[in-house]
Amino acid sequence: MLRPFWKRPAAVPPAAVDKDKIPAHIAIIMDGNGRWAAARNLPRSAGHREGARNFRRIAGHCKDIGVKYLTVYAFSTENWKRPREEVDTIMGLFREYLQEAAEELKTHNIQIRVLGDLTIFHGELRRLIDEVQAMNHREGALIANLAVNYGGRAELVRAANAAAAQKQGPLTERDIEAQLYTAGQPEPDLIIRPSGEYRLSGFLLWQCAYSELYFTDVLWPDFTPEHLDAAIAAYQQRSRRYGGLS
Ligand code: IPE
Ligand code: IPE
Ligand code: MG
Repeated sequence: MLRPFWKRPAAVPPAAVDKDKIPAHIAIIMDGNGRWAAARNLPRSAGHREGARNFRRIAGHCKDIGVKYLTVYAFSTENWKRPREEVDTIMGLFREYLQEAAEELKTHNIQIRVLGDLTIFHGELRRLIDEVQAMNHREGALIANLAVNYGGRAELVRAANAAAAQKQGPLTERDIEAQLYTAGQPEPDLIIRPSGEYRLSGFLLWQCAYSELYFTDVLWPDFTPEHLDAAIAAYQQRSRRYGGLS
């Protein structure tokens, strides 16, 4: 059913995306689910459900245009402060998505990885996470990293401790990097935050050092593949210097 026009996000003019310069790694803070629901007099859980659905849509688009890594912030170490009911809804959606993982891999060649402190997950959910992580993708897969119970500071403390346990003497950047949840993956080229907030909320604190940041007021459930193309087109206009001269 078509939504009434005042509930539809503004149409986005098609962006001029250079298909030869698609960022290899895009990271997204999936924010604004609650406000999306509130604007419709719906419970917050409906916003999270719509947000999860949108993740599938955006992951499919990333796959189609040749993005290699997509990292999404789904649940932070601070999000446990929310009411029990809301946390349960989000964890339920997480579980549902994990249950689809094998199918995703088979039909869409999307490999799911989970980034975050997994030690708090037990029983059935932990078994599912382990199963998903053990799956192997085919050539050309999109690696979809779901950041769940993720905090950038917690990730760094964990990495520093793990690196120190492995090595005597001063640690190098490489030692730390090797212990991050994203070890072996390229750093995000582009980090997108919808919902009109201009902060990272602890997302990929180490990895974001030279990422291009893109903010938009669109709420995550309304964020379409066209919005993603607009973000990529904006990214393609940026000059990345990494401290050098262009
Ligand atoms: C993002 O949407 C999902 C999580 C943080 C788990 P929010 O639930 O934060 O939505 P807003 O920011 O309240 O609109
Ligand atoms: C960031 O959103 C975390 C996720 C989207 C999972 P929050 O809604 O938790 O961030 P703050 O509280 O606005 O910084
Ligand atoms: Mg939020």
